[in-house]
Amino acid sequence: MNVRDFVAGLPKAELHMHIEGSIEPDLFIRLARRNGVAIRWQTEDELRAAYQFDDLQDFLDLYYDGCRVLVTAGDFFDVTRDYLRRAHADRVLHAELFLGPQGHTSRGVPLATVMEGVLGAMEAARAEDGITSGLIAVAQRHRSEEEGLAMLADLEPWYGRLLGFGLGGAEVGNPPGKFAAFFARCRELGFKVVAHAGEEGPAAYVRESVEVLQVQRLDHGNACIDDPALVAELAARRVPLTMCPLSNLKLRVVDTVAAHPLKRLLDAGLCVTVNSDDPSYFGGYVNDNYLACEEALGLGRDDLVQLARNSFEAAFIPDAQRRASLAAIDAWVAQTATTTR
Ligand code: HPA
Ligand code: ZN
Repeated sequence: MNVRDFVAGLPKAELHMHIEGSIEPDLFIRLARRNGVAIRWQTEDELRAAYQFDDLQDFLDLYYDGCRVLVTAGDFFDVTRDYLRRAHADRVLHAELFLGPQGHTSRGVPLATVMEGVLGAMEAARAEDGITSGLIAVAQRHRSEEEGLAMLADLEPWYGRLLGFGLGGAEVGNPPGKFAAFFARCRELGFKVVAHAGEEGPAAYVRESVEVLQVQRLDHGNACIDDPALVAELAARRVPLTMCPLSNLKLRVVDTVAAHPLKRLLDAGLCVTVNSDDPSYFGGYVNDNYLACEEALGLGRDDLVQLARNSFEAAFIPDAQRRASLAAIDAWVAQTATTTR
């Protein structure tokens, strides 16, 4: 069996993707027309051509602007349902989705509209395809901590249907410590906590996320490689990294996928996982990310299996589900063993 088919059938979890970053060009144009929202592009090709970025901020400008096409609960339902359908096709058994409510409420979209659309699609996907998912609300780090705390309070009606909280957006100049009280409050309320760190920011931001914010997972985490003591700590504690190689390539965090630290960190014993981040903007869903790494970093089947196993180790799921998911990986490996090589 070739590697493409092997990856396609490999059971996996996706733990780092932003719902707002999964609006495919055709849906984007349909939503803009449906809602009478003026956009700069008329065709899917024009949109795709616009997806060239100099850095994270350059991307975020377009990404926040693109959110304007999401207006009704039906829009939030459609984008979430479409992503989960594609994830299911990539044999994602479980997905943890990032949502940035502030990007919508700041435009006057009611929080209930956003939440009911997204949560409704997650339930529909589970009922129709059997894919499970969890929702992580992300505070935008260029905004104040008070605004983050206000978002947390506003989400109270949905606490029972939320997995946790995260931190995203412009990293440099907005260190994790700016959100120490926000994260403390999230933890007190019993939520899982994660943070984007070390994407454009330094290793010190990765350390601060672990030590001050006490995150259970690091999103990206690339820069930890610059601090060998930190790498050793993350390996010993198995603090997961949700890495996104094609995102890093598109936002010029790395010059080539071959230069990506994923394999070095995997070999150092870290719980590295592979994810798509913003799949429609970065030109690839989760399996495309696995395959890009396989090709550029020379990953073997054992590495691919380890990455998939790590995704379930790192997922916020009950232990019985974790065991069943790992058994599904074992079954796939056994099933493909005779046809491998
Ligand atoms: N980094 C930070 N914030 C984000 C990203 C990212 O890659 N994608 C969407 N929000
Ligand atoms: Zn991200």
